[in-house]
Amino acid sequence: MGRYRLHVNGRQRVVDVPGDTPLLWALRDELGLTGTKYGCGVGACGACVSLVDGAAERPCVRTVEESERTRITTIEGLSPRGDHAVQRAWVELDVAQCGYCQPGQIMSAVALLAEHPDPDDAQIEEALRDNVCRCGTYPRIRAAVRRAAELARGER
Ligand code: FES
Ligand code: FES
Repeated sequence: MGRYRLHVNGRQRVVDVPGDTPLLWALRDELGLTGTKYGCGVGACGACVSLVDGAAERPCVRTVEESERTRITTIEGLSPRGDHAVQRAWVELDVAQCGYCQPGQIMSAVALLAEHPDPDDAQIEEALRDNVCRCGTYPRIRAAVRRAAELARGER
């Protein structure tokens, strides 16, 4: 066991876990941030995608030890009121079906738009290619990314 300091959603947090614990377990089980979902545990499904230093990362395949000295953002920390442009677009287009994959989809979209504020179809496809949705909401996800880009630009 060790004490690891994690910077999560703007706050310093301390977790008492072995250093090789996946960051996903620290987020969910130690810090109660259950919006970050467990799907495959091997970095293949995208359910757990969160931001690490602003980039889309998969906390199921990162350890707590290697996550010290980074800035982690989970779906809970995206916007205090849940009104980030991506979240508003998701609601407007009624994207979610069962919802399980959606936090990961949203966080991947946030990282994409931070890098490419007006992404083309190929960039959207590339950014979201490895986020699996068992309910097949892919067309609505793609449309919502485009809509989020409009909302972020202040368009109605
Ligand atoms: S649970 Fe992390 S990528 Fe599937
Ligand atoms: S909305 Fe059900 S898995 Fe994506």
